[in-house]
Amino acid sequence: MSYKKLKKKLKKAHSLHGFEELKLQYDSLYKIKLKQKDDIIGIKKAGELAVYILTCVEERIAPGITTNDINSIVEEITAQHHARSAPLNYHGFPKSVCTSVNEVICHGIPGDTVLKEGDIVNVDVTPILNGYYADTSKTFFVGSPGNDARKIVKVSRECLRRGVSAVKLGNRIGDIGYAIQRHAEAQGCSVVREYVGHGTGFDFHEPPQVPHYGKRGEGIPLVPGMVFTIEPMINLGKPHLHVLADRWTAVTDDGSLSAQFEQTVLVTETGVEILTPFD
Ligand code: MF3
Ligand code: CO
Ligand code: CO
Repeated sequence: MSYKKLKKKLKKAHSLHGFEELKLQYDSLYKIKLKQKDDIIGIKKAGELAVYILTCVEERIAPGITTNDINSIVEEITAQHHARSAPLNYHGFPKSVCTSVNEVICHGIPGDTVLKEGDIVNVDVTPILNGYYADTSKTFFVGSPGNDARKIVKVSRECLRRGVSAVKLGNRIGDIGYAIQRHAEAQGCSVVREYVGHGTGFDFHEPPQVPHYGKRGEGIPLVPGMVFTIEPMINLGKPHLHVLADRWTAVTDDGSLSAQFEQTVLVTETGVEILTPFD
């Protein structure tokens, strides 16, 4: 579709008829399920819970706790709110949350690992509340961080912020990755290629894929009602990774630190709304 044609459609999108048409089109062209008012309210509630879970975890992060302890906190709060944890049994994932320490990029499995002073740990939660999914993660310091830890956490947080800022009408998926990659590489860090952001809301992982690298002006045009995650995984060293024998844990090949922040966002008529708002 030409951009001109799309713009015309977008103009119409505020009318119910126009939005219905756009919905059909994004479904048939890209398998993207655009969200409307009630869906967004539902995803937002899941998002609030997700952020609350992260807050509860953050309060308890300290040297000496295990990643299993984090799993227990997530399970407790999730149950209290009559929600479910999307990771549990997802393609065989054995726990309710991903806990990724230091050189672990993502999908770390909670276990007996004891967090120690100076570690960084990413905690990635996805509650399902009333059938709606919200996916968010943060990287925490355990005790006081060293210079490397401080740097990679700062850069990955800023990468997410810049990625989110690239979400607006007239931009495309590639603009998000471009903004992220540019910052990461300018800081001497690297962007993981093997894992990407994704549509979410009705299901854990929906189309489209949202790479954290890319070219300006490339990819699917952003339109109101799209809900997807941005979740850059940024390495202090090289981008290359391997997956451990547990078939989940992804670690940097060079052993360098990796950090990640993730938010679920909504494309609006006027720009972007974060559905998992944290600072
Ligand atoms: N929460 C991760 C994401 O951001 C996915 C984890 S899949 C799991 O997409 F099975 F490891 F939980
Ligand atoms: Co995600
Ligand atoms: Co996630």
